[in-house]
Amino acid sequence: MIQELFDIYRRNFPFILRQKETVLWILSNDANIVLEHRNEKNTLIGAAVINKNTILLFCVDAEYRKRGIGTRLLAMAENTIKDNGYSQVVIGAGFDYIMPGVPTSKRYFASENEALCFGVDDTASDFFEKRGYRHSWNCNCFDMCLPLNTFSGNAYDVGDTIDGITYRWAALNDLDSICVCTDDAYQEFTGFYQDKTLYADNKNIKVLVAVAHNEVVGTLIVKLEDDEACLGSAGCTTVKRAYQGKHIAVRLVTIATKYLRDIGVREAYLSYTYSGLDHMYGYAGYKISVYYMMAVREL
Ligand SMILES: CC(C)(COP(=O)(O)OP(=O)(O)OC[C@H]1O[C@@H](n2cnc3c(N)ncnc32)[C@H](O)[C@@H]1OP(=O)(O)O)[C@@H](O)C(=O)NCCC(=O)NCCS
Repeated sequence: MIQELFDIYRRNFPFILRQKETVLWILSNDANIVLEHRNEKNTLIGAAVINKNTILLFCVDAEYRKRGIGTRLLAMAENTIKDNGYSQVVIGAGFDYIMPGVPTSKRYFASENEALCFGVDDTASDFFEKRGYRHSWNCNCFDMCLPLNTFSGNAYDVGDTIDGITYRWAALNDLDSICVCTDDAYQEFTGFYQDKTLYADNKNIKVLVAVAHNEVVGTLIVKLEDDEACLGSAGCTTVKRAYQGKHIAVRLVTIATKYLRDIGVREAYLSYTYSGLDHMYGYAGYKISVYYMMAVREL
C-alpha cells in the first residue's frame, strides 16, 4: 500500500522535490488514515492521506479527473477529520509535510524571480477555493530551484573573509555560538542545528557559518538531498538581527550553492519559503518553481 501511495504521489506531483525516504517515512506513519479510490483493475487512482486534521496527500490521476472522484474523496476526508473532533482542515503541512500546501501557479501576492516548473497550474488551488478553502498566509509560500549548469558562480569560496566576515564550515565546537545566532534570528530552526551529525565532516551535509569577531552571525545548512537525482539544498538560513541587511545571507547562499555545484550536484533547491526571500535567493540565481496555496477550511 505504501508503495502504491508513493507511486500515485509521484505520478501527480512530478515537480515536488522531496527525498524519497522522507516521503515514504511520512506515508508509513501508523496514525495516517488513507481513503482510496480504485479503478476496475483495482489500481489506486485517487487517494487522500490524513493525519490528525491535516490532509498530507490528496490526488486523483489525470485521466480520472472531472468525474466527481476528488469531490467525494474530499467530502469523506472532511467528515473523517470532523468525526475525529477537529474543527479545521489543513492541506499540506502538519506534524511533517510531503508538500507545504496545494501546489499552484497562482501567486497571492507580488513576487519576483519566477520560472515555474512544467505542469504547475492553478487547477488544484481552484478546486479547493471552490470548496471553501482559503490561502491562510499573508504572503506567498513557494519553492525555489536553480539548475547548477546555469549558476555563474562568484569570486568567493568557503574560507574567504568579505567585509570583515569570514565564511567557513562549522565544527561541533561552534554549536553554542550557532544556537545563539539561530535563537536570535529564528528560534524554530535551532533544533535542526542541534543535530550533531551536521558537524561530522561529511561532504553531503554541512553547516556554513558567517563569523565576525569569533561570534557566529549567520548560518545555513547545505545538503546533498538525493544522490541518484543529483539534488542539493541550501536552507534554514539565519542571520543575527544586528547583522541583517548586509548581504550576509546572500553570501552564505551563494558560497553554499557554488559548493554544491563543485561536488557535482545538478540542481539546487530550497523549499517552503516565503515572500521577500524570492528577492534574497534570487541574487544567487534561484527562481520560484512552484507556489503553494496554504489551504485551510473551518468545518
Ligand atoms: C532571511 C534572513 C536570513 C536574511 O538575512 P540578511 O543577511 O538580512 O539578508 P541579506 O542582507 O543578504 O538580504 C539581501 C536582500 O534581500 C532582502 N531581504 C532579505 N530578507 C528579506 C525578507 N524577509 N523580506 C524582504 N526582503 C528581504 C534584503 O532587504 C536585501 O535586499 P537588497 O536587494 O535591497 O539589498 C534573516 O532575515 C533571518 O535570519 N530571518 C529569520 C530566518 C528565516 O526566515 N530564514 C529564511 C528561511 S529559509
